[in-house]
Amino acid sequence: MEQITRTTLIHAGKANNVYATTSPDYLELESSDRISAGNGAKKDIVSNKGIANNQISSALFQYLESHGIPTHYVCEGSNPASKIVKKATMIPLEVICRFYAVGSFCKRYGCEKGKKFDTPFVEFTFKHDNPDAPALSDPPIDRKTIPLLSELTLVSDEREVALIEYYTARVGELMREFYIKLGVNLIDFKLEFGRLPSGEIILCDEISPDTCRLIDLKTGESLDKDRFREDLGDVSKGYEEILKRVCDQ
Ligand code: TMP
Repeated sequence: MEQITRTTLIHAGKANNVYATTSPDYLELESSDRISAGNGAKKDIVSNKGIANNQISSALFQYLESHGIPTHYVCEGSNPASKIVKKATMIPLEVICRFYAVGSFCKRYGCEKGKKFDTPFVEFTFKHDNPDAPALSDPPIDRKTIPLLSELTLVSDEREVALIEYYTARVGELMREFYIKLGVNLIDFKLEFGRLPSGEIILCDEISPDTCRLIDLKTGESLDKDRFREDLGDVSKGYEEILKRVCDQ
């Protein structure tokens, strides 16, 4: 494969930096130490989070790819916090998969925390980054509405919605198996997908303790961004502990 070298910064998001590369088909995605919650209302820096998230995400993308899930992962990047990825047009949906009722699910329905679901429960929110309509930020969107709004969602028919849902549930099963072996209970997670120029839909973005709820099976301790969201103390511990278990396996 040709040598791919990063060039200019093209986007600095809440937690990740995206760089162009010497190839038009690839980007370099760098995980940063920035952390935020409540749509940016609460912010901080967690040292070495970027390296941990990138290493965990890269290991998971390679594991999922080897089990038949197409992903954007290509190879390591120019530093331990970055990877080279395929350039894709991002689909503006957050796809959430839950194994337990917690977080916004309980807030929305006023139900008790902790109920376990029999099968992975998948739901969608629409990433509505429209500064003229901030009140709409990331509303839930149902399966039938996604193709009706195809000019905004970039998903054209129910077949593609079903494919994204299938990939998400399958990623859920695979990740639960992966984490159980590490002594970790995967509670829920969020995925984002993109589309290659060929039209193929692939898994993009990151899969890290920023985007998953991960609980130590023995102690019940949170090992993810909930440590920051809920002021549980020592935020870096979750990232370091997950990285250690992923590397030691
Ligand atoms: P929620 O309970 O707040 O909806 O979150 C469900 C899961 O999705 C949890 O693991 C955190 C993750 N998530 C993100 O990574 N980014 C987001 O913007 C949201 C809303 C959730």
